Amino acid sequence: MNDESPEVNGPPIDQYPDLSGLDIQAMVGSVLNWDYSSKNERLRTLYERNKIAQWNVSTTIDWSIPVEFGSPLKVLESPGKGPFSEALARLIPRDRWDTFRWEYQAWMVNQFLHGEQGALVATGRLTETVPDVESKLYAAVQVSDEARHVEAYARYVNEKLRVTYPITPGLGSLLTNILQESRWDIVYLGMQVIVEGLALVATRIASTSFNDPIVRDISKYVARDEARHIAFGLLSLKGLYKDLTSAELADRDEFLAEALLLMSRRFLLEDVWLKMGVPVADGVDYAKNYPGMVAFRNLLFQKVVQILREVDLLTPRLRHLLVEQKLATPRAVAA
Ligand SMILES: [Fe+2]
Ligand SMILES: [Fe+2]
Repeated sequence: MNDESPEVNGPPIDQYPDLSGLDIQAMVGSVLNWDYSSKNERLRTLYERNKIAQWNVSTTIDWSIPVEFGSPLKVLESPGKGPFSEALARLIPRDRWDTFRWEYQAWMVNQFLHGEQGALVATGRLTETVPDVESKLYAAVQVSDEARHVEAYARYVNEKLRVTYPITPGLGSLLTNILQESRWDIVYLGMQVIVEGLALVATRIASTSFNDPIVRDISKYVARDEARHIAFGLLSLKGLYKDLTSAELADRDEFLAEALLLMSRRFLLEDVWLKMGVPVADGVDYAKNYPGMVAFRNLLFQKVVQILREVDLLTPRLRHLLVEQKLATPRAVAA
């Protein structure tokens, strides 16, 4: 697919999906298993670590700190990173950069929140569909983590920011694909590899660079949890693809290719440009092509590339797609 294809640009802003929610129909099988013996020591250890690492949104986070949306911010120490590159001044005058930084943060946090709800529901699904009991137990403790993540970001958005953004079409479509899927390993590929791989890096960046201490703190705790969730995916998927038929592998490749394409649209910031009064096409062009933004996306996709490689699914097609869509450098995906 070429870089300028309409699919990658996403639908026009006035054709965004119904914002009231997603109602996804799926045919899935619930599996119960009477073998309770421990088969995967590393998964059992991860489960123990997860139970110990629980935190409480109400008491761990200091909610008394005020957040003044739109207030003046410290000058960026490294304006070359992410969306705050010098060329941004061509789209947004410098005296509006603080507003843009707040809107960008609000947009990112709202996308985190929508993704967390997706993770909550998808991982709940895994407790039903994974065949072994140890994985069901781990998925269940992950569900409680995801509940906490939804609680934290929702409270932050509702009480502190008071600015909401709808889910991006790309993320909405990926969550739909994941939740329509009956094969449990593909749910892992969509959630534990793609969504959480991106979320881990994005929340780590948020934990050091966002504008106020509350969201930095929430994101620090969320990122710690996400690292365990990715480990869960890796433990479950490693070695799994050696024994699949070529047709079964082609299905995984197809799912991942579409997921990566959808996520290539995830960071184009359409709604933020719209709100800032920047022509959306110009903003999207900047987000897609400006070197600082390309480097930012490459950073975000680093973990996804690493996991795909570890589970033996970084196929030539996905390598090509990652480079073509400017999600990774040729060097990062080299065999
Ligand atoms: Fe999460
Ligand atoms: Fe997670």
